[in-house]
Amino acid sequence: MNREWYKDMAFYQIWPRSFKDGNGDGIGDLWGVYEKLDYIKSLGVGGIWFSPLYVSPNADFGYDISDYYQISPDYGDLEIFDKVLQKAHSLGLKVVMDLVINHTSIEHDWFQKSRRGIEPYTDYYIWREPKADGGKPNNWQGIFESECWQWDDVAGKYYLHLFSSGQPDLNMDNPLVRKEVENIMRFWLSRGVDGFREDVITFISKTEGLPDDGFVIGLRGMRFYESGPRIHEYLQQYRRILEEYPDCFLLGEAPMMTPKKALSFVAGDKRDLDMMFHFQHMEADCFLTEYLRLPFNLKKLKRAFSRWQKRLYNKGWNALYLENHDHPRVISRYGSEQYRVESGKMLACAFLFQQGTPFLYQGQEIGMTNISLPKIEDYADCVAQDVYKRCKRMHLPDKAAMALIRPATRDSSRTPVQWSAGKNGGFSEAEPWFYVNQNYPEINVEAAERDPDSLLHFYRALLNYRKGNDVILKGKYREYEKQSRKLYVYTREYQGKGILVVCSFTEKPVAFQFPKKLKVETMEPLFSNYAAEPAKPEGFTTRPYEVRVYSCRTKG
Ligand code: GLC
Ligand code: CA
Repeated sequence: MNREWYKDMAFYQIWPRSFKDGNGDGIGDLWGVYEKLDYIKSLGVGGIWFSPLYVSPNADFGYDISDYYQISPDYGDLEIFDKVLQKAHSLGLKVVMDLVINHTSIEHDWFQKSRRGIEPYTDYYIWREPKADGGKPNNWQGIFESECWQWDDVAGKYYLHLFSSGQPDLNMDNPLVRKEVENIMRFWLSRGVDGFREDVITFISKTEGLPDDGFVIGLRGMRFYESGPRIHEYLQQYRRILEEYPDCFLLGEAPMMTPKKALSFVAGDKRDLDMMFHFQHMEADCFLTEYLRLPFNLKKLKRAFSRWQKRLYNKGWNALYLENHDHPRVISRYGSEQYRVESGKMLACAFLFQQGTPFLYQGQEIGMTNISLPKIEDYADCVAQDVYKRCKRMHLPDKAAMALIRPATRDSSRTPVQWSAGKNGGFSEAEPWFYVNQNYPEINVEAAERDPDSLLHFYRALLNYRKGNDVILKGKYREYEKQSRKLYVYTREYQGKGILVVCSFTEKPVAFQFPKKLKVETMEPLFSNYAAEPAKPEGFTTRPYEVRVYSCRTKG
């Protein structure tokens, strides 16, 4: 059995609410997924990661779970889940579930019992008395709301919620809670799933005493739970599931992670996790949070890419992504809506020739872009709503508040997938639960299938090219033109074979020269987003968002 099956493949992420409505109620669901499995397979991916499918009151769209053992009635039931799983497996697609265990929903039975003092649940969450002066138990800040302590009348205490108040943090120091986590993992593995994406997993161990924090750049309190004191112990406990399910794949979401720290999680045979989602390359146009936006800075992006490529080489394995349900669409951020297809292809090459397992997010393959809606009521994400409230508290006018929210909100990646130019973008016959981006007549899967030059076909070609390719799997990474604010140039090299990737992040022409240090004997064009135009021996001038990928034979 090859435990490392995840290395030579790519995943496709499904955020179920907006993927495809199969039963005509305007909400995406597993019947819709079932219909589209052949399409997913056709992309050249080897697996699916499902954002939460479980029962949830949707304070945070499934990331607040009230029953870990049932499928949300919005999405189907265990029967259709099993059917999807079986068909996915028969197509050779792995299936990975989201494991959200830093917190539950307030509607979870454990929380309902815990707040009423019913054993053994009293200690399942992090309850605290007010301070002697009546204040909050400590001075930590919330990640989703400014506060992270919520007073509960039933318990007569505060509970900790790092995310929204509908997402109380579990007390992972309680061995009974950790047993529950093991049971959840066993339940889904015994149904046949292939692994987990562990939500904000590096936050589950909190420093004893939950001490007050001093002045920090960033969030007050975070240093007391980010990679907290017992994190490795807990992750090792969950990893023991491999004794029963040796093929199980474990991926952790890790905000604030650095490559140096990451090695303590992902290196070696006894690693806690097979790979991690870090956020460093998602910060190239913002500061600390996506709501504090700065102009896009290519050097920041390149530094993040290169650090992770180099530090993990031969020690760990990277998870590669440009989009997921937590970030606006990448073409609207790092590319150009005006040069949508060109920049989409360029961005695809910027990450798909790196070493690691790529994750594609629904709609990324057809180049979906951000939405821009007039009023705060039009947005669905709890974070957007909270940012608006904060702006109002600071007496910012509506116009300024909306200017912050529009380019940053997670809602932009959560609009229904645009399947066709038909009604509601082919997502649903009924009124969709959320806005369909009005560009659907132009940007949709059917149109992309028809157009041989579409981003969709380009993604397919790249994903197929990656398969079994030693240079991509094992090659050494090297970056050139590090100081350039316009070009991202990198090579991969393995046993005399190489790949050179030249990406332009601007519409302006840039004179590119083949690096002198690059010792190649032959160079063949592999992929580009423009009609071939031969390069001179010394280089070429880029067209808007041009990318050129070459395969090379290297000297010595
Ligand atoms: C992760 C999820 C995000 C969610 C948060 C809290 O970051 O990806 O969608 O809101 O955790 O569960
Ligand atoms: Ca539905």
